Amino acid sequence: MAKDRTRFVCQACGAAHPKWGGRCDACGEWNTMQEEAPPPRPSGPTAKAGGGRRVEFVGLQGQSRPPPRLPTGLAELDRVLGGGMVPASAILVGGDPGIGKSTILLQAAARIAAAGKRVLYVSGEEAVEQVRLRALRLGLEKAPLALAAATALRDIAASLEQESDAALVVIDSIQTLWLDALDSAPGTVAQVRACAAELIRLAKTRGFALVLIGHVTKEGTLAGPRVLEHMVDATLYFEGDRGHQFRILRAVKNRYGATDEIGVFEMTDRGLVEVPNPSALFLAERRGNVSGSAVFAGIEGTRPVLVEVQALLSPSSGGSPRRSVVGWDQGRLSMLLAVLEARCGLSLGANDVYLNIAGGLRIAEPAADLAVAAALASAATDRPTDAETVYFGEVGLSGEVRQVAHADLRLREAQKLGFAAAVLPRRLARAGRAPAALEGLKLTEIGHMADLVAPFAERSVKREAGRGGAAAAVGAAAKPA
Ligand code: TYD
Ligand code: MG
Repeated sequence: MAKDRTRFVCQACGAAHPKWGGRCDACGEWNTMQEEAPPPRPSGPTAKAGGGRRVEFVGLQGQSRPPPRLPTGLAELDRVLGGGMVPASAILVGGDPGIGKSTILLQAAARIAAAGKRVLYVSGEEAVEQVRLRALRLGLEKAPLALAAATALRDIAASLEQESDAALVVIDSIQTLWLDALDSAPGTVAQVRACAAELIRLAKTRGFALVLIGHVTKEGTLAGPRVLEHMVDATLYFEGDRGHQFRILRAVKNRYGATDEIGVFEMTDRGLVEVPNPSALFLAERRGNVSGSAVFAGIEGTRPVLVEVQALLSPSSGGSPRRSVVGWDQGRLSMLLAVLEARCGLSLGANDVYLNIAGGLRIAEPAADLAVAAALASAATDRPTDAETVYFGEVGLSGEVRQVAHADLRLREAQKLGFAAAVLPRRLARAGRAPAALEGLKLTEIGHMADLVAPFAERSVKREAGRGGAAAAVGAAAKPA
């Protein structure tokens, strides 16, 4: 039988190794291994020794009803949760330090408390006085919230054991808690995992909803809590740029609702305010008639969101040109640049390319290809796109423009916000249903990227000829046969 020995646990992925090493074999991270005491051995009989009870198997049909919900009163948060918090479930809320995790949870906790539920807020990071000051600033100081500053899990667990009617417990943050049975420091994988397991067990047995706040490391993963994601019922990430006032709450896992749903908030001097119409907000600072800008009609979760895509080209000063992307995928930008060069005759190679999704939103949809291409073509030719037009569609390597889902939703949002035209993928005969015609919205269906680029090229060549200036960055924008 193997002896109990100390082991070395990677703090990034949780893999345990018998020997220390500079690099974790499991995830490839450097300098992440820490010595930890072995986990306690189970004291009962082992599985081999027999004596287990027979497990009862049942059918799929039953009496289960949809779980009851605890609405937070913040519509955007409820939307991401799938209708509110589910009692006896565990929710992990991750995000960069300073992004607003404590703020939003204090707001939600106070509202639930004000609705007459028992809500406990355990702060491990801030003193009671600091939390009170925040509550004052948010105008929530009258909410009947039960507040404590504590980090010792043993004390917190003992207190929760005595709670009979708690509806919600917020732990801010899981990285500050520690269990005295373990040698390792707070915030290590072993501590985070052990503390979360104990709290989740309490949530399941006592029936309260549990919210664990967790910090994200600079690499973008939840420190330690990456090992928590499988233990909790829902994982929400709070993202955004601290330089912007917009904050986006995104569900990446949800056992009780849809993932990919987002909630949009604005950070104000009175806390986080819900943004029911994100498109208007994301487009608020758009200036018409500037080259290199195009509006993308996107979908986030179930909701259409219009955002501005901005591109800037500048002559590269030797070496390999820069490709700098904020809010979109770098690889996808390289692909689009290659397609624009090879299939549409735009020569961009000697330029540094900067791409930005305005407002701090991060887009993952391939449907943004067409809007990005329009912004790039516009920047390359120094011709503004039509400010009243939205773009969406996926682009393939041969330059073909492909269908994307939810054309109807995107078009309706564009119409609602007063846009007059949309450029979208050409409908295939077999794809059947056309997007319903919308009053006041002119649809331009295109099948190939060259159709998108040609109008810019024509206008640009004329202009350059008129000015007699430097040659435009446009070659033959001929459409391949
Ligand atoms: P906080 O919730 O403490 O962030 P986290 O818990 O994720 O670390 O919020 C941090 C920032 O939010 C802080 O820099 C100040 C700002 N803030 C406001 O702008 N308005 C407010 O009403 C509050 C409470 C905070
Ligand atoms: Mg905080």
